[in-house]
Amino acid sequence: MQEINASIPVDKRLWEEDIAASRAHAAMLGAQGIIAAEDAAAIDAGLAQIAGEYAANGVPVDLSLEDIHMTVEARLKEIVGEAAGRLHTARSRNDQVATDFRLWTRTACDRIDAGLKGLQVALLVRAEDHADSIMPGFTHLQVAQPVTLGHHLLAYVEMARRDRSRFRDARARLNESPLGAAALAGTSFPLDRDATAQALGFDRPMTNSIDAVSDRDFALEFCAAASIAAIHLSRLAEEVVIWASQPFGFVALPDAWSTGSSIMPQKRNPDAAELVRGRAGLLLGAFQRLAVIVKGLPLTYSKDLQDDKVTVFEAFDALALSLAAMTGMVETLTFRTDRMRALAASGYSTATDLADWLVREAGVPFREAHHIVGACVKRCEELGVDLSQLPAEAAAAIHAAVTPAALAALTVEASVASRKSYGGTAPERVKDAIAAARAALEN
Ligand code: ARG
Repeated sequence: MQEINASIPVDKRLWEEDIAASRAHAAMLGAQGIIAAEDAAAIDAGLAQIAGEYAANGVPVDLSLEDIHMTVEARLKEIVGEAAGRLHTARSRNDQVATDFRLWTRTACDRIDAGLKGLQVALLVRAEDHADSIMPGFTHLQVAQPVTLGHHLLAYVEMARRDRSRFRDARARLNESPLGAAALAGTSFPLDRDATAQALGFDRPMTNSIDAVSDRDFALEFCAAASIAAIHLSRLAEEVVIWASQPFGFVALPDAWSTGSSIMPQKRNPDAAELVRGRAGLLLGAFQRLAVIVKGLPLTYSKDLQDDKVTVFEAFDALALSLAAMTGMVETLTFRTDRMRALAASGYSTATDLADWLVREAGVPFREAHHIVGACVKRCEELGVDLSQLPAEAAAAIHAAVTPAALAALTVEASVASRKSYGGTAPERVKDAIAAARAALEN
């Protein structure tokens, strides 16, 4: 029973929040005259001492004390004696744990935000260096159109921006205090819930005591936001893995972010990227696990909810570590821009440019231009040449508008430079986008 029941090995991570919430509760009990001022003062001093002990030596794990709440209270009793027993007046572990856990998750949102921001900064620095480095852009992992590396990296800056706003939203919604809901029904004591809410930095007390002890939306939202962020990191990780492969050769990882093989001396494997990609599995699993825990629970508290913490802690740890690893990789990758540039022209990547040229310069309807260029590509495949090298007679045989001038215009530089539409890949647009993203980061 002790082994399945005790949560202290996990919820000891809540010690700072538990002590902060208890100090706020004790101060309020004293101010309201629910307990004597001397008792409130003794409790506060005792809790401050415990915080010092835990900070210095960690939280002692004694399964017989069940959880962090009982562990702190037992130590408080050793320090201040009988007054310790008055702390739990008008409180239950049900509102206590909900309060602690919200406080912890609030800090977790801030830490993830900082990690995401760090990744954005790293991406922006690299994007700045490569605002006009040309690489192949892909659809279906087939070469599609040339793009700039800076533009590609900025796509991840945008994902991280949305991720940050999801954590900000989750943080704003979770910032209400369950403290004072007691077991589930409120209490007969004249509490000041506004005072404890304010002391703990909450925006307001939660409205409904039943909801206050039952709700785990905030933890679900954290896991949901974390899952989406992890999906983004996993996509970036997948690109690092592909790009680092020899057939691509777009990037080289430094030794610090790769591993060797025990048998193949030449190996430099992108293990960190692969682990970030795999860790997304844990994060998606965390949301699923918590959703399944909560979905069948009748109101109010059931002990199933005790497993909410390990779930969120693991999700946080995995995401924080993935962010740190990905930031380190982004900062130190070597981009093989010569290789990217060479492959940018492969796969007839400027075919769309030729079709656009026929529309713009020869007044050909786009659908027909698409058809003409398709025939040109087919002929190039037969001849084993690139579009820009299509012989003039062969081009003229397909359509009179496919002139040497049209073919001469088909460079990857001209292609990216022409994509000046808002949000497009032209280097000048990329530079604007970097400046805008930098300005947004500073606000
Ligand atoms: N350790 C418990 C948890 O994490 C604290 C709440 C216990 N409440 C109860 N009524 N047994 O959920």
